[in-house]
Amino acid sequence: MNDHPQPSNPRQHDNFEIRLAPRVLRLPPYLFGRINALLYSKRRAGDDVIDLGMGNPSDPPAGQVIDKLAEAARDHDNHGYSKANGITQLRREIASKYQRRHGVQINPETEALVTIGSKEGFSHMCLALMGPGDTAIVPAPYFPAHLHAIVLASGNAVTLDVREEDRFLANIAYTCEHLMPKPKLLVICYPHNPSTVTVEPAFYAEIVRLAKRYEFMVISDFAYGDVAFDGYHPPSFLSAPGAIDVGVEFSTMSKGYNMAGWRVGFCCGNAEMVRGLATIKGYYDYGLFQAVQIAAIVAMRGGDAAVDAQCRIYQRRRDVLAQGLQRIGWNVTLPRAGMFLWVQIPEPWRSQMSSVDFAMLLLEKGNVAVSPGSGFGPTGEGYLRMSLVENENRLRQAVRQIQRCLTQSSQPTSVNESSIPATLADESNEQGTSDSYPCGLTPSQESEA
Ligand SMILES: Cc1ncc(COP(=O)(O)O)c(C=O)c1O
Repeated sequence: MNDHPQPSNPRQHDNFEIRLAPRVLRLPPYLFGRINALLYSKRRAGDDVIDLGMGNPSDPPAGQVIDKLAEAARDHDNHGYSKANGITQLRREIASKYQRRHGVQINPETEALVTIGSKEGFSHMCLALMGPGDTAIVPAPYFPAHLHAIVLASGNAVTLDVREEDRFLANIAYTCEHLMPKPKLLVICYPHNPSTVTVEPAFYAEIVRLAKRYEFMVISDFAYGDVAFDGYHPPSFLSAPGAIDVGVEFSTMSKGYNMAGWRVGFCCGNAEMVRGLATIKGYYDYGLFQAVQIAAIVAMRGGDAAVDAQCRIYQRRRDVLAQGLQRIGWNVTLPRAGMFLWVQIPEPWRSQMSSVDFAMLLLEKGNVAVSPGSGFGPTGEGYLRMSLVENENRLRQAVRQIQRCLTQSSQPTSVNESSIPATLADESNEQGTSDSYPCGLTPSQESEA
């Protein structure tokens, strides 16, 4: 028997205050919220929106990989906790891929770790390396997780424009010469999301030279290392002589293998850094479902043919979208790698509206969703990121819809916010404040894959 009177609404408690940790409150506002709210409301209303927003692969993994997952899921032995750092055979597979594709030798016992997607691994590695008072250099425009992981680890971030290789290198050296205490960590990401910048091996040799000279560690995010075009072969950071002395590289099965939802990533490189990540992960998780790891082995053993075939699909989509946009007068540079076009917003819109407002216009009037450049920080303002996850016909259709929408909206105006239902706008709305951001940084907008 319960003698206490029950509140009429069991969720209504007297003035009980939920107090989130400062690290959560320091996270920047979710400015993709407006776009997402409109996207959801359009979808609910039955509109056919062509979604070039997220880099979420829409093609399936190879058939034998799915078959292996089903078979492994039926095996009762695979349902317990797995090895936290990944099963040995999967770590051997990533080591042999590094050898095959990059000529890099990795010891699968000490220099390789399986992560729950590369984003989880990256974030926890930042937690293993960074703390209050530590500074990391992050390339800008930035993949939001690169910045947020540093913030969540209580570190400070300095963002440096990544778009010109020589300037980026010179700015790293300048920052190391002038900042006290010196940066502890450099984040790099090539092929870069969102700017699509790529590099050659000599660039990594220079990074290693700077790392040794100024004593910073390096995390290379190689998420798009499998997705390249026109015969370009993205080099691995680890292939630079001495790279393994100073850093690690994260890779993933999300992009090249179409396994984004499976959450299989890898951290390879410096054994002490790998051990640091393993220690953190040992306190947080028990690793990946073993059936997923077994199927991932099959995907990697299938070799590079499926990955190469997927690259050809993205290359054709890149060409269709780029040519279509060029035909309607946009200035588009073809990327050599990755899953996106990074496009400057054409005039007169670029001077008259923000990238968020322009993206809202394309969505509201054109039924095409794209990511506004400012979602990747202030360096991205004036740009859009368009992902290649829709098929060629849909991409052609997207260009037609964009053209029609811009012709109708020849007088640029801000999109009417009242078209967003209040409840949805609220649902996706901001959390936290931006003014407590470390190091005087301008707050970023939220992450899109
Ligand atoms: C640069 C970059 N790193 C990491 C990730 C996350 O990849 P994963 O699915 O392996 O967590 C993404 C996803 O979009 C990305 O763009």
